[in-house]
Amino acid sequence: MANLRRLGGGEGSLTRLTPRRGRGTTRRPVSESVPAYHAAVEHARRPSSPEDITAAARKSFDEAPDARLRFLLQRLVEHLHAYACEVGLTKAEWEAAVAFLTDTGHSCSDRRQEFVLLSDTLGLSMLVDALQSHLQAGVTESTVLGPFHVDGSPLRPMGSSIAEQEGSGEPMFVSGNVRGIDGQPLAGAVLDVWQNAANGLYAVQDPEQPFENLRGRFRTGSDGAFSFWAVRPVDYPIPDDGPVGRMLAATGRHPWRPAHLHLVVSATGCHPVATHLFDRTSPYLGSDAVFGVKPSLVVDFLAHGPHEPGAPEGWSDTWYSLERDFVLAPAET
Ligand SMILES: [Fe+2]
Repeated sequence: MANLRRLGGGEGSLTRLTPRRGRGTTRRPVSESVPAYHAAVEHARRPSSPEDITAAARKSFDEAPDARLRFLLQRLVEHLHAYACEVGLTKAEWEAAVAFLTDTGHSCSDRRQEFVLLSDTLGLSMLVDALQSHLQAGVTESTVLGPFHVDGSPLRPMGSSIAEQEGSGEPMFVSGNVRGIDGQPLAGAVLDVWQNAANGLYAVQDPEQPFENLRGRFRTGSDGAFSFWAVRPVDYPIPDDGPVGRMLAATGRHPWRPAHLHLVVSATGCHPVATHLFDRTSPYLGSDAVFGVKPSLVVDFLAHGPHEPGAPEGWSDTWYSLERDFVLAPAET
């Protein structure tokens, strides 16, 4: 049809392809013009099949100079077209999908990443994580980064608290060691930590919290040990007031994630790991909205009375502790 339009619309206009006689023109021999005319007519009349369209779109990337980019886009075309054919995608559905992705983009800001949320809730983030896993026996497993990580969290003194605001939650002392796969302590390892408050919100979501509340970085000394005060994280729904939330609601899915602490642990010469530590008591461990739970990342938050040794000063209620080591794989694996 595109060919028909280019030729002026309608089969009648195809006659323009016939060589015309006129002032200053020379009539070409019939033997040259007729085959070209018939070929053009045949091409214009032939409906473009799905296979033709896919082949043309794929071929359009043939000359891409970057081989990896060419491969990625040609396979994307093939899979995307195959999906449309398999489900019999209608024009209305295509328009709805475009509107949904447009809304997703409009929902993004420097404090909200709706596309990451979409990837998470479709399981794509965990799939990419699994494909890139450099897992060796004993190495700490990774999971989704999630949409609430903020670069440049404050570097805090070892043993200090990431809670900058009263009422952030029940205190939880987190400690352990960062080691290499050979068991040696990793000096200078950095733990980048972030979590939600008792109201279920991360500071980037909540204007009532200081912007750096409940996040921070800690650097290990020569012994590879770390410790800091956090608060007991709580179950929370992913932001469901945008397009991703509408998708979950339309499909009968709940938006909840099991309570967890986020960490990115890194050290020179090692693969960094973005991971979570999940609360074993959460009712959402088996139905995490973003599929992020791995059994090795489920831990016990140990409860302590207010008078037990180590209780935070001035705290007169239950507090918690969590001891956990992190093991990083060498970068060359
Ligand atoms: Fe989270």
